[in-house]
Amino acid sequence: DQNKSLEGKTVLITAGPTYEALDPVRFIGNHSSGKMGFSLAEEAAKRGAKVILISGPTSLNIKNENIQLHRITSAKEMLEKVLQFYDAIDIGIASAAVADYAPKEVATEKIKKNEDIFTIELIKNPDILKTMGEKKIHQFLVGFALETQNEEENAKGKLLKKNLDMIVLNSLRDEGAGFKKDTNKIKIFTKTEKKEFDLKSKENVAKDILDCIEAQLLK
Ligand code: C5P
Repeated sequence: DQNKSLEGKTVLITAGPTYEALDPVRFIGNHSSGKMGFSLAEEAAKRGAKVILISGPTSLNIKNENIQLHRITSAKEMLEKVLQFYDAIDIGIASAAVADYAPKEVATEKIKKNEDIFTIELIKNPDILKTMGEKKIHQFLVGFALETQNEEENAKGKLLKKNLDMIVLNSLRDEGAGFKKDTNKIKIFTKTEKKEFDLKSKENVAKDILDCIEAQLLK
């Protein structure tokens, strides 16, 4: 009695943080839990989609057997995995909190503490979603934005710059929204439309996002 509204579609979702190695035991990372991406994966699978979930390090597990989970560590590994599947997907959703920079050199041995001030040189990571946008043929692409200022302008700017079909703006101002939380408050933009949603569980936010994607696909 479940509505299999995404039957026959392949959905690729990126989730979680990326860890960028400094040496064999240390990394640069962030506090992303992966909850938003895993919730999207479960909801898309419930709707009958074949789901490819590419996730950085998280403590989460998948429930639905229609989800193919690929665990990666760094942004470079995430990009490689995405490109492996990209041509065959119908929908791409980038919810990963990809590290913007990675250490330029990765030490082969554990770095010893010597100097009082230790400098690390960082180099820009590939923008995975922007790469997906550049390679877009038929794929419907959805990105996330988390902004602290001019949030709507910046989100809409990213929609155009990364060649997306939809962008989900996370509110940072709201209690209970964002990183490590179980709830989120979002606004969704397409090139022509804007929709605002209440604070809700990430499971229900995933439903709203997929409802919007389905409505756009029917246009
Ligand atoms: O440019 P910014 O990081 O704000 O863009 C956020 C969106 O781009 C998110 O959807 C995120 O998953 C994606 N992104 C990515 N690869 C990066 C940086 C961001 O896929 N290196």
